[in-house]
Amino acid sequence: MKETLTFTIRRAQPGDVDDMAGAHLDSIRSIGPQYYPADVVNVWGARVKGALYLEAMGRGEEFFIAVGASEGRTDVLGFSSHGVDGDEHHAGVYVRGAATRGGIGSALLRTAEASAIAAGARSIHLDSSLAAVEFYKANGFDEVGRGEHRLWSGRSMACVFMRKALGPSGGSASNRPLQPTSAVRNRS
Ligand SMILES: CC(C)(COP(=O)(O)OP(=O)(O)OC[C@H]1O[C@@H](n2cnc3c(N)ncnc32)[C@H](O)[C@@H]1OP(=O)(O)O)[C@@H](O)C(=O)NCCC(=O)NCCS
Repeated sequence: MKETLTFTIRRAQPGDVDDMAGAHLDSIRSIGPQYYPADVVNVWGARVKGALYLEAMGRGEEFFIAVGASEGRTDVLGFSSHGVDGDEHHAGVYVRGAATRGGIGSALLRTAEASAIAAGARSIHLDSSLAAVEFYKANGFDEVGRGEHRLWSGRSMACVFMRKALGPSGGSASNRPLQPTSAVRNRS
């Protein structure tokens, strides 16, 4: 069966943070167990709450949300982020499990890339979860190494270090305005 997903991407506002936390937790809990043991998934999601994004926004991190209908109601379906740590620009994307494989993650990533380009970035670095490696590769990132990401509790989760060059030869990023997007996906 094919389902058309219609969603809008916009910059997140402080009033969105609780809905972002809901999408973040859904993503971790619905997708994470396919790639990590239960204790890692539990720790990964244990400190997700709206206040985290408020603090990050206060430090200058940019967030973008995809809003659309899924499972009968309108909600935040996912979000992306762009932040700067020293000279390195970082990005991340999370999508609700029920809304994956419809192009939302790629659309969100393009928005974070556009934010990075506007801030002068020549490349983006990220520590990808095992759940997102193929997604980032499909969006132009290269694997540069493998290792562990230390979670707040001291537990480690396996991750893949990835990088993407931006700019004229860097692929998909653009500064085009945000607008409603439709995507068709296959559902079993
Ligand atoms: C990774 C994630 C953001 C992808 O979101 P999405 O909306 O499904 O991504 P898209 O639909 O734009 O996928 C684009 C392409 O990436 C690739 N891709 C995405 N998910 C994939 C998967 N699970 N396995 C293999 N390839 C995948 C495919 O090539 C896909 O194109 P296709 O659907 O036409 O085959 C989502 O699965 C997620 O939130 N995962 C859990 C959270 C996480 O680990 N986030 C990263 C933190 S570093």
